[in-house]
Amino acid sequence: MSKHASLPGFRDFHPEEMARRTQVMSAWREVARRYGFEEYDGPPLESLELYIEKSGPEIVNQLFNFTDKGGRDVALRPEMTPTLVRMLGTKIKGMPRPVRWYSTPQLFRYEKQQRGRLREHFQLNMDIIGEESVLSDADLLASALDVLRILGLTAADVVARVSDRRLLHAALVELGVTEESMAIAYNVIDKVERDPRELCLARLGEIGLDRDRAGKALSLTDMTLDQFAAAHPGNEVIAKVADDLRVYFAALASLGFGDWATFDMKIVRGLAYYTGIVFEIFDRKGELRAICGGGRYDRLFSALAGVDVPALGFGFGDVVLGELLKDRGLAATASRQLDAVVVAVDDSSREAALQTVARLRGAGRAVIFPYRTGAVGKALKAASSSGARDAIMIGPDEAARGVMKVKRLADGSERETTVEEYLAGTT
Ligand code: HAM
Repeated sequence: MSKHASLPGFRDFHPEEMARRTQVMSAWREVARRYGFEEYDGPPLESLELYIEKSGPEIVNQLFNFTDKGGRDVALRPEMTPTLVRMLGTKIKGMPRPVRWYSTPQLFRYEKQQRGRLREHFQLNMDIIGEESVLSDADLLASALDVLRILGLTAADVVARVSDRRLLHAALVELGVTEESMAIAYNVIDKVERDPRELCLARLGEIGLDRDRAGKALSLTDMTLDQFAAAHPGNEVIAKVADDLRVYFAALASLGFGDWATFDMKIVRGLAYYTGIVFEIFDRKGELRAICGGGRYDRLFSALAGVDVPALGFGFGDVVLGELLKDRGLAATASRQLDAVVVAVDDSSREAALQTVARLRGAGRAVIFPYRTGAVGKALKAASSSGARDAIMIGPDEAARGVMKVKRLADGSERETTVEEYLAGTT
């Protein structure tokens, strides 16, 4: 090992890992294209202030921040949403809505390294700005799920768990939770699966809920949407949001993802800015951390940019997804695809061989040639292990006649052909 190891939580991408990164990146881009999103990017370093106010304590505690040589407090971006809101800012006023933007930034969080969580990751962000309709929420989740489908995963592998912060908010208000304590109550529900029940009850007790009401708050988390609505008769907010969610799930089903999503009140999301439908995607076996998370954040634009615009989006990381693809045998391994290795049999054939290389490359084929002429047997062996489809041999005789000998490496068959015929695929 070199004495300079990489930092904990930071990855080196050797060609095999890079192949997987490219596989994921290609699926992300393909989905963004199919769903009509435009690409954007911002700077990897932002002012610290941008995150302090809006991301909430969970991310702020994980910032890579420092004071730069000009005395500015800065941070490596831990998430993309504040940058997006800053960039669109007041500009959004003059733009045709909704705006659909995507980006694939590398993000940095000083987290404890564990399976699925590192200190840097790439994250697909897809956001829709300027749209209130619940159909946009459904379309957004469909796009996240389509990434998984394109990569070969199914509804048996993954599930999107969906809730709505307005439901939780209304129910907690009914139970007597004040606005000042709401963030703590959200945090208890967010961690209800991980923390022991007694701890959850105690934390709710600290914000003024007696045992009975604290127990009720926790029992909300196991309800279906219909049970939840029925448990709150006469609450207009809950009735309206429940109707929205029914439209949402019906639209998801029509878009082909009926089996992929389920209502789940335990989904709150750690970030402070969400205001409506929120979701997280998990592997069904529950072995890994969240694959993707997002939701509606209708007040972030007014808080950061002073314009009142509804918005929604998600972040979809490459780390957990990579683990899942490996577990399911779906991860790409080939780091390149070579069409041919062109071998000059002797020095006198070099010119013809290199011209052939140039013509094949000019026609878009991936082609290499050995830098040392002479040992043809060795060159053919190297061609085989390079993963190329064909070895093309050119000797003085072939060069004189303007042809080449093509060996299909998979079955060893050989044929003589011209470059034109080879490119046309007729031989
Ligand atoms: P987030 O839930 O913090 O949301 O992150 C979204 C996804 O990024 C996670 O589900 C996970 O796949 C990946 N991720 C997060 N932290 C790490 C880490 N330390 N290592 C590996 N992967 C990680 C957001 O970031 C929101 N800004 C998403 C959003 C966009 N909401 C609206 N628009």
